Amino acid sequence: MILSDEQKASLIDAGIRAPSADNSQPWKYQWDNASELSIWRDAELSGFATDKTFILTDLAIGCVIESIRLKALESKLNAEIVYCPSDESEKIATLVFTSSASNTPPLPNEKANKKVVDETASDRELASYIEARCTDRRFPYKGPVTESESLALAGAVNDKDYALNVYTDKAAIAQFLPSIKEAEQIRFECASLHQELFQTIVFDQPAPDKGMTPAMLSIEPIARPMFRLMATWRTMQKLNKIGTSKMIAMRSVTLPFKLSPAMCVLTTKSTSRIDIIKAGQQMLRFWLKATQLGLSVHPYAAPGVLPLAKPDVGEPYLSRLSNVKRNVDSEVANGQQVIMFFRVGRCAGTPTTSCRRSADSLKK
Ligand SMILES: Cc1cc2nc3c(=O)[nH]c(=O)nc-3n(C[C@H](O)[C@H](O)[C@H](O)COP(=O)(O)O)c2cc1C
Repeated sequence: MILSDEQKASLIDAGIRAPSADNSQPWKYQWDNASELSIWRDAELSGFATDKTFILTDLAIGCVIESIRLKALESKLNAEIVYCPSDESEKIATLVFTSSASNTPPLPNEKANKKVVDETASDRELASYIEARCTDRRFPYKGPVTESESLALAGAVNDKDYALNVYTDKAAIAQFLPSIKEAEQIRFECASLHQELFQTIVFDQPAPDKGMTPAMLSIEPIARPMFRLMATWRTMQKLNKIGTSKMIAMRSVTLPFKLSPAMCVLTTKSTSRIDIIKAGQQMLRFWLKATQLGLSVHPYAAPGVLPLAKPDVGEPYLSRLSNVKRNVDSEVANGQQVIMFFRVGRCAGTPTTSCRRSADSLKK
């Protein structure tokens, strides 16, 4: 199978549009031949404090892989994924493309045939939302998120080792908020996490090709000068003495969740590197389904991801993070581990969206 330059460009474009933590886009690609694409982590953009185990990078690359796989399906191609992450190698996976017409396996009976055809059709439909998907940090979100929408969101997950729990009951959502707040608060109280967070924020360009501006973070114009002052650790330390990290957690967690009709939680059975990459694939599937339903999505990674990243932050932060993990895992009560929280609902208009690196700059 030989892919045309146009087909290759369209697949890479789908990968580029995938989400990544802090809009870091920590990946690279290489066409090994006319139908095989290898995906690598970008060594310069991965492995920092909150990514010590490559968890954020692997989640982002999972999103990239699923985005390319869905785009391939939409273009009548199959993509077989060969995973190969290891700490030594920067190579994460190879996608092998074949024509879906020539490669459809013979099916034993009509029922099985219909199931595959239905799944392919719904995946192709998901692919058509790759361009529209975005992070929406605005609030309030309006409701309701209906029962059938909740089922559709949960049903976007197509691997039994993962689950997407949807909560629309205010009391059920409230149970998670202290843990989410605690994890967000730590990011402003611990020097290395604070430094990493502010390194990704771009104050002096309106449309950087990676990272995010205060507008993209939905920080109100009136609060932006103060937010800029917080970028200096000494200032942040002083502000924390008057409770600023707690106020930030209220503003970024309590208020937005209280003013949203639904919370979704993605959980996983295993946290091996391959399973985290696959969690990223499931995350993108859920997010595209939400986009299809006209729902806004705002992810919260810190409570699930920070404890798994095991950053070198010392005490008391490590104990605080372990408590967060214990609490959120026990609250989802499905025997799995929490990866990510999402605030979900409806919000009119469009948020300020982030920009992307060029396809050329992502070449290995
Ligand atoms: C693994 C992962 C973790 C993320 N964590 C957060 C988060 O904790 N808070 C947040 O506001 N956005 C989070 N995001 C959203 C990214 O910041 C966003 O995807 C990126 O800036 C690109 O913007 P877009 O989603 O609008 O394309 C996360 C995204 C991914 C893939």
